[in-house]
Amino acid sequence: EQAGVSVLGIFVADTAYQASRMPGIGETLTGSGFSVGPGGKGSNQAVAAARAGARTSFITKLGDDTFGKMALDTYRQVGVVPELEVMSDCPTGAAFIFVNDSNGENAIIVYPGSGGTLSAQNVEARRSVIESSKVFVTQLEQPVEAAMQGLKIARDAGVITIFNPAPAESFPEEMLSLCDFIIPNETEARDIVGFPVTTVEQARAAATQLRERGAGVAVITLGEKGVYVLSDEVDAHVPAMSSDTVIDTSGAGDAFVGGFSAALAAGEEIVSAVRFGCATAGISVTRRGTAPSMPDKQEIEKLLADTFGSES
Ligand code: RIB
Ligand code: NA
Repeated sequence: EQAGVSVLGIFVADTAYQASRMPGIGETLTGSGFSVGPGGKGSNQAVAAARAGARTSFITKLGDDTFGKMALDTYRQVGVVPELEVMSDCPTGAAFIFVNDSNGENAIIVYPGSGGTLSAQNVEARRSVIESSKVFVTQLEQPVEAAMQGLKIARDAGVITIFNPAPAESFPEEMLSLCDFIIPNETEARDIVGFPVTTVEQARAAATQLRERGAGVAVITLGEKGVYVLSDEVDAHVPAMSSDTVIDTSGAGDAFVGGFSAALAAGEEIVSAVRFGCATAGISVTRRGTAPSMPDKQEIEKLLADTFGSES
């Protein structure tokens, strides 16, 4: 059966530590909270897309361990179709997430573990999963050759390709021309274009450059400043929206990418898909954790209706 969205990426267990500020070098700081839950950018995006209503498959590699079981439980609960290999000789990865309690900001160290061994061959083995989806999504937490292979398979099959170049890593220039949509955040966009990207004006200049270098539509996420999108027909800034007080921004980018992908798979136009992604992210930041903070379709539609009224 046809999946709406196929995602290639990694799963890791997120270990999140809350404190009122960042610790300094050599300092021990008493925290105010701790949790362990499902994470990893690709996995979070798959969870967000499935919760947002898309039939979603996730391609990855897990270890044969407690964290790997956490991933499988998560996919069972949210209805993500697992297209994965379980490795006996490599542990599932983990992430250290620092959450600043005073403003919800975060800093992350991710160790990819089993997901870091994903190869182009592993992706090739899931060719039919990608070919039978409407939208394909990948990032850069797994080796770049695997991401590139996924984009090539999708492009050859006429599947809509979405590339989220996160975390900021260098990648072959050729990948830009394989994406129908490139979705970097401010830091990632800056690293790719070589100048700061924090304002809407700078985002327009960055998006123009990305498109000149081969990307289809450029969608640049600007945190609380919203999202800027540039295509042949669209030049728009969509403001961020939020349903409540911001308490944890970790995974907000993944919420956007997952929600946006689900909307595209459902046949939405670009700007309404961007709004849908913004609403998905806007709810996720009001809840703790990454994957566990992803809203369902009803919640997203309610925030859109509250924000834009019936015209949304
Ligand atoms: O984008 C947030 C994610 O990045 C976290 O879930 C963490 O696992 C890191 O991979
Ligand atoms: Na969150």
